[in-house]
Amino acid sequence: MPALSTILNAHPTGHHFLQIPGPSPVPDRILRAMSLPTIDHRGPEFGVLGLKLLKGIQHIFQTTQPVVIYPASGTGAWEAALANVCSPGDHLLMYETGHFAWLWQRLATRLGLQVEIIAKEGTCAETGLPNNWRSGVQADMIEARLKADTSHSIHAVCVVHNETSTGVTSDIAAVRRAIDAAKHPALLLVDTISGLACADYQHDAWGVDVTVSGSQKGLMLPPGISFNAVSEKALEASKKATLPKAFWAWDEIIEMNKTGYFPYTPNTNLLYGLHEALNMILGKDGKAGLAATFARHQRWAAGVRAAVNAWGLPIQCGDASVYSPVLTGVITPEGVDADAVRKVIYERFDCSLGTGLGKVKGRMFRMGHLGDSNELTLIAMVAACEMGLKLAGVKLAGSGVHAAMDYFSA
Ligand SMILES: Cc1ncc(COP(=O)(O)O)c(C=O)c1O
Repeated sequence: MPALSTILNAHPTGHHFLQIPGPSPVPDRILRAMSLPTIDHRGPEFGVLGLKLLKGIQHIFQTTQPVVIYPASGTGAWEAALANVCSPGDHLLMYETGHFAWLWQRLATRLGLQVEIIAKEGTCAETGLPNNWRSGVQADMIEARLKADTSHSIHAVCVVHNETSTGVTSDIAAVRRAIDAAKHPALLLVDTISGLACADYQHDAWGVDVTVSGSQKGLMLPPGISFNAVSEKALEASKKATLPKAFWAWDEIIEMNKTGYFPYTPNTNLLYGLHEALNMILGKDGKAGLAATFARHQRWAAGVRAAVNAWGLPIQCGDASVYSPVLTGVITPEGVDADAVRKVIYERFDCSLGTGLGKVKGRMFRMGHLGDSNELTLIAMVAACEMGLKLAGVKLAGSGVHAAMDYFSA
């Protein structure tokens, strides 16, 4: 244990580079908004705030249907989605794109649902990693499975839009088309916890029944609130569903939301933050603000990928058509522990990167490029990685920093 004086004097200077793919850095504007005094959640001011927020958040999901807000992390919203539309033993078809899809499946199993996992098979010859963790949802596999389900026993199809463990953004519209092509009545449940307000996401146009999301990624808020965007069909299903639900139940929340209030004590200060985040993202422009947000993320991601390509290291997402605008997974060479590289980068350069999760632990690390970022913070992250990789003894083909600078200055 170091002496107290050492600990007290060990305050690092400058900003910590929080480059994990969420929680993402919280901008000062949002921190200041959250520092306002907590108000009476049954008082007149709160109702005004609530109505404004509930309207604004619909723009982010690109929906005119209800968006339910929970004072919970994303995991809570996963459970809420299932608890509202499922009955014990319901059959779910869940596509495994990575660790978060796998965790959602585990949660569903613990709720007493019957889960069937579907995924691309095999391992990648170049990296030895599972193919399905390097690619997006294969909508044709879902279509074939649903066509074979002639008794319509499958109650819902569950997919992750932006798989945060791998850096893959799946084509949700294609999943919708697959369900329609199979003429199957299954509900479509989508997790866009890390995709929302980073990657284009259209709850209504893509015919999603329940969209699950959270606060701590593209919305630039601390962790602690999460969402269910709900279709008419999902609302109907929730009336017949018999899994126990009380706190998560949509009906009471949606009813009270009509006047801007909540049936529980809401997370008032996080909601101030959400109000500020909506102002920042949508601004006066609304739709145009959202489009600019998506374009910005695509550009950042391309600059970071230019760096990884210059290093000559493989990107976890092996299919360029589904590269994530939110994060990039970097596979370290065989025998190089990706967590040891992250440790050097953290200790020497005060930069946090995402660890490899589940099946790719130790084989890759994740570079976040989302939310309150800009080109210079990303170049700094690339520089920290480049120095850390060199310190860890990784031979790099070229300079990622130069590649990123060239990309961003073109
Ligand atoms: C895609 C995805 N789904 C689910 C979760 C779980 O959310 P939480 O950790 O907020 O409970 C995360 C968290 O990072 C995620 O990225």
